[in-house]
Amino acid sequence: MASIRHKSVLYHSSKVIYDSYGSGGSALVFIHGWSCSAALYYAQTPLFHRHHSITIDLPGHGRSDAPKIEYSLEFMARAVIEVLNTENISSAILIGHSMGGPVSTMVLRLKPQAVRGVIYVDSFFHLPETYMTVSQRQELAAAHADDEKFRSFLAPFATPKLSSGDWERIIDIMTSTALHVRTNATTTVVQPHAWRYKEIYEVPALHLVTPMFEDFDRHWLHHIPRLETVVWPDNGHFLFMEEPQRFNAAVEEFLDRLELFRT
Ligand SMILES: *[C@@H]1O[C@H](CO)[C@@H](O)[C@H](O)[C@H]1NC(C)=O
Ligand SMILES: *[C@@H]1O[C@H](CO)[C@@H](O)[C@H](O)[C@H]1NC(C)=O
Repeated sequence: MASIRHKSVLYHSSKVIYDSYGSGGSALVFIHGWSCSAALYYAQTPLFHRHHSITIDLPGHGRSDAPKIEYSLEFMARAVIEVLNTENISSAILIGHSMGGPVSTMVLRLKPQAVRGVIYVDSFFHLPETYMTVSQRQELAAAHADDEKFRSFLAPFATPKLSSGDWERIIDIMTSTALHVRTNATTTVVQPHAWRYKEIYEVPALHLVTPMFEDFDRHWLHHIPRLETVVWPDNGHFLFMEEPQRFNAAVEEFLDRLELFRT
């Protein structure tokens, strides 16, 4: 069994903490969602023991430093790339939950040669906030700053399949994320650069999606044409915690079928 190593890189003078299991130039790279952290992937431990795996606390999240900067997708993606470079990962399979999906896509756009595949977990092509005007985003940022409104925003993520322990864990982590990160990470004015029509990545990709985000942006398929979508109709946003065995098996099936993992 691969033992865990807690590591960090310095990125824009701030510490980015990550955990590494195993070794080699190929790795599963787990990227958490908005206001979440690597700790939520605890039920993916069986995957960590089978494949070289890295779980990252994005800047501002989990154990990583939280400088007062704009938490743009590009900023967060470049932190992931810093980890890939430090770990000499030339063939990453990115697994991005929710906001971690657009972060993964940005990693793909910035360093396509290092990305062997992407698994999106109840995610989207653009952050939902991208479709808002600046003033709508500012209003949303103000709502997220209010603890009570923030909790009611999260309420739909609690589903019958999620154990109460896991829900407490999620709420604990999400409410302990620094307020300036919580309000900034999805609503910053620093939006990703636009897509050229011909910006296309022929990378294998899988989207495990619940009804919450099933009605996705069809541009996604234009830019990442090999994207496969699998709907989990009875699950909620934290499906990898709700049914970890099924989730881990779906990851294994995708890796095997597309022969993504070289050791
Ligand atoms: C990455 O490669 C460099 C240069 O070959 C080496 O010094 C370093 O130890 C490697 N890092 C890891 C984590 O394997
Ligand atoms: C994000 O943080 C920066 C730096 O602290 C700040 O200037 C900006 O107003 C913040 N944006 C939002 C939407 O909170």
